[in-house]
Amino acid sequence: MRIGDIEKVELDRLHTLSLSVGWPHRAEDWQFLRESGQGFVALDEIGRVLGSAMWFPHGADFATVGMVITSPRLQTLGAGQWLMKRVFENVAGRDLRLNATRAARRLYLSLDFQPEKTVYQFQGIARVPTTGGPAETRGDIRTLDARDVAAGIALDAAGFGVRRTALIEKLFAHSTGYGLFRGNKLTAFALCRPFGRGHVVGPVVAESDADAVATVRPHVVDHSGSFLRVDTHVDNGEFAAFLSHAGMPVFDTVLTMSLGKRLADFAAGGSAMPKTYALASQTLG
Ligand SMILES: CC(C)(COP(=O)(O)OP(=O)(O)OC[C@H]1O[C@@H](n2cnc3c(N)ncnc32)[C@H](O)[C@@H]1OP(=O)(O)O)[C@@H](O)C(=O)NCCC(=O)NCCS
Repeated sequence: MRIGDIEKVELDRLHTLSLSVGWPHRAEDWQFLRESGQGFVALDEIGRVLGSAMWFPHGADFATVGMVITSPRLQTLGAGQWLMKRVFENVAGRDLRLNATRAARRLYLSLDFQPEKTVYQFQGIARVPTTGGPAETRGDIRTLDARDVAAGIALDAAGFGVRRTALIEKLFAHSTGYGLFRGNKLTAFALCRPFGRGHVVGPVVAESDADAVATVRPHVVDHSGSFLRVDTHVDNGEFAAFLSHAGMPVFDTVLTMSLGKRLADFAAGGSAMPKTYALASQTLG
């Protein structure tokens, strides 16, 4: 096998790779990720894509890692390790975070990643719950536009622990967003964009369960009757209950792991304010 730049590969070959491990990404989702980060592919002697690994730098000291895939016929032969070593060479000096599937946990443990927190993948056919309606919301909900990007970046940074300027700008451009405003100040928001089998809601940043529900609810209304997904570290309380009542039970879990200094978002029992209620995606964090 030889290593190649992920930029140089045709999108349908990447799509075929993720389909081979049962992932829902569309070619467009790969394109979004390629525009947001960097990565490698493993190619065989006739140019078939048999593996991938990507990283997404934010600031000078941090990156997330994702889209680590080896094709089923290559697994357990060391290709995952090989790709990750190449990633390490390119992110030297950065603290890393990723969301590990069960299949990948052993690989990342052997590379010294430390478990942090479980991610719950809520998904299903959306339906509008009868509770948590607009009358119960403190503040004004309105759709977000380009004027709100700077406030969104600042709120996301407060919740996530690292400023993700380029990524949040790009997500705003690809998403519909709802924000909760109190006295003209953005205090919570939820973005929603096409992904995989339907749409994904994320990131969601808010100061309380009630505020998170208030910004996600309009997306549930918009997508009622179609496939919706939310990836979150929250598995109890009003927010998690709302997702279940909105037709999205927990489908699967992955494990957030880190290498190097940890972000502050899970510190002090997760009491950071505001906090990240939903990930942009498992790959992006
Ligand atoms: C996760 C994945 C990338 C691992 O790739 P891989 O090519 O199998 O990894 P490697 O062969 O380098 O194995 C890495 C380690 O895991 C071990 N391992 C891998 N699969 C194993 C299995 N089924 N049983 C036991 N050990 C296994 C290897 O022995 C090795 O351990 P070591 O470092 O202690 O020697 C691959 O299984 C995959 O693409 N899975 C589906 C997609 C996925 O879940 N990606 C992860 C996203 S976070």
